[in-house]
Amino acid sequence: MTDKTRPTSNGTVESLLTEQRVFRPLPRVIADSAVNPADLKLAHEKADTNRLAYWEEAAERLQWYRRWNTVLDESSAPFYKWFEGARCNIVHNALDRHITSPNRNKLALIWEGEPGNTRRLTYFELYREVNKCANALRELGVAKGDRVVIYLPSLPETVISMLAAAKIGAIHSVVFAGFSAHALAERIEDAKPKIIITVDAFYRNGRVLALKPLVDEALEQAEHSVEHTIVVHRTHVTVSMNPEKDLWWHDVMREKSYEAITESMEATDPLFMLYTSGTTDKPKGVVHSHGGYMVGVHHTFTQVFDNHATDIFWCTADVGWITGHSYVVYGPLMAGTTTFIYEGHPLYPEAGRVWSVVERWGISVLYTVPTLIRMLMRFGEKYTQQHDLSTLRLLGTVGEPISPDAWVWFHKNVGKGRCPLLDTWWQTETGMIMISPYPISVLKPGSVARPLPAVDVDIVDDTGTSVPTGKGGYLVIKNPWPAMITTLFNDDETYKEMYWSRFAGQYCSGDIARRDEDGYIWVQGRADDVIMIAGHRIGTAEFEAALATHPLVAECAVIGIPNAIRGEVAKAFVVLKEQTDTLYFMDEESETEQQLIEHVRAELGSIAVVGAVDIRDALPRNRSGKIMRRLLRAETTGSEIGDTSTLEEDPFWATTD
Ligand code: WTA
Repeated sequence: MTDKTRPTSNGTVESLLTEQRVFRPLPRVIADSAVNPADLKLAHEKADTNRLAYWEEAAERLQWYRRWNTVLDESSAPFYKWFEGARCNIVHNALDRHITSPNRNKLALIWEGEPGNTRRLTYFELYREVNKCANALRELGVAKGDRVVIYLPSLPETVISMLAAAKIGAIHSVVFAGFSAHALAERIEDAKPKIIITVDAFYRNGRVLALKPLVDEALEQAEHSVEHTIVVHRTHVTVSMNPEKDLWWHDVMREKSYEAITESMEATDPLFMLYTSGTTDKPKGVVHSHGGYMVGVHHTFTQVFDNHATDIFWCTADVGWITGHSYVVYGPLMAGTTTFIYEGHPLYPEAGRVWSVVERWGISVLYTVPTLIRMLMRFGEKYTQQHDLSTLRLLGTVGEPISPDAWVWFHKNVGKGRCPLLDTWWQTETGMIMISPYPISVLKPGSVARPLPAVDVDIVDDTGTSVPTGKGGYLVIKNPWPAMITTLFNDDETYKEMYWSRFAGQYCSGDIARRDEDGYIWVQGRADDVIMIAGHRIGTAEFEAALATHPLVAECAVIGIPNAIRGEVAKAFVVLKEQTDTLYFMDEESETEQQLIEHVRAELGSIAVVGAVDIRDALPRNRSGKIMRRLLRAETTGSEIGDTSTLEEDPFWATTD
């Protein structure tokens, strides 16, 4: 199995295989924690005895318009129906119910713009903004089941529009604002939205990045036209507005009523879709439902992060990713927590920005990605020492394997050795955290610890047989869970094929992992052709499709290579078209490489980082003519581990010129 694992960062896999350190919870953490070790043991026992009763109890902590007939209807598996027969709306639990509770005047959302301006909204204020927006959308003809594409960075309006769409039963599809016009066009074509919500421009790394022009470009490319584009006014940039179709956010919100009816939804009705990369050349829309997603996210948020009434929760993920959906927006709001969002670059205007935010706002839980930790580590302890980080009580990471060294650095210098650091494993498709320690767990740096209660994980070989302790294998999930993907938008067949066909009846995650003698799981990386760049998934097939549209490219193959900061970046092997082949001398070749790198970025967006281009005469193929990426990978990783030549200032969002 291990030969299928590729190193995910500068020696991360190697260090994960030899790591031995153990960190025990401090007595004060155990005393402060809502879930103590005996509770956790009991929860596991309950879930093992009756998994569905465990989830039913979790569901009962939320409000429903109508109770379910069955907790789980498996009759049309793998199209599982959680809380079948129930009626609800996630927004009722995230907002409406707080208005009649002591949370009414508590801060729901704190937002900080990159230039330093801020906005704070109480639950009551957020509720009113969402209602106004819901009324505006309804007035524009958006109804239950219609799609609304939200192409915005992390702004209050992003949260408001997501909740407003969900409130009226529309399906939101947030497209990360770092994606290109072309990537947006692809998603628009697939989702066929009635409305797009975007912004004139926003701040990132000291620059103003215009977004509205990309929407115009995408709409020109896409074979689908929208009824309206709503534009949030954020900067001084002038953008062109089509008087027939384009509307300003402040105009559509003007004079709308502060009250709006929350649509009563079937628990199984779609809440949102989020495009994610797999092994195909186009991203697929992962669909999540109101009921199951609501239960899974609420339960994991309150349990794993041991929700305290006084918390200020900062998940650094962009709202445009699943982490943002589940643990910036829905999880914290359903729990009545104050959630913090930041618009800009984490190192702007200096490497102390993250710590300054923690100090100024009194952040108590910080949930982030290993890429950011690796970036911040480069600056040593200077900045962590300059700021008062004493409000922190809990740290978390997600999205990619964390090397034990980065884990220990974060734990020691940010958590000061007193904050538990939870490495949480999950995916866009799982919707919720699946494997993670609790704050009271014994922690092993680099391990995601054990599956949560009622989450049934196994590690299997090619034939689907459990592998022995210590051996690597495919990470599968043996039983359905509430926040699970319900299907791929308009593509039930691929949903079945991609996740449920490899090991009959089990969900195949596409990851490689091993389990140690304590039952702790160590995730080593992807088994398939997905590259994890700064924790963001992009398929090699997407890179190849983008490269193939360049006029110089005859054929190409793309693999992931280790990168010290981003974890991985892409490496492209390219055969050029004949007539150009002979013309190229050394420096012109490097110009071609640069052109190809820029081309991919323009096609896919700024997170699609090609770290190296290797121009070849031919690509290795097997007898049936398939390109052998494994050969290219084996040849490359031997020589390039530790290569840092592709470092850029913004691993999440390499700004485009
Ligand atoms: C990877 C992000 C190691 C994994 C929530 C998974 C991780 C993919 C971890 C999903 C972790 C996520 N340790 N790897 N703690 N968490 N991954 O859909 O390869 O953007 O399959 O969801 O990230 O990425 P996605």
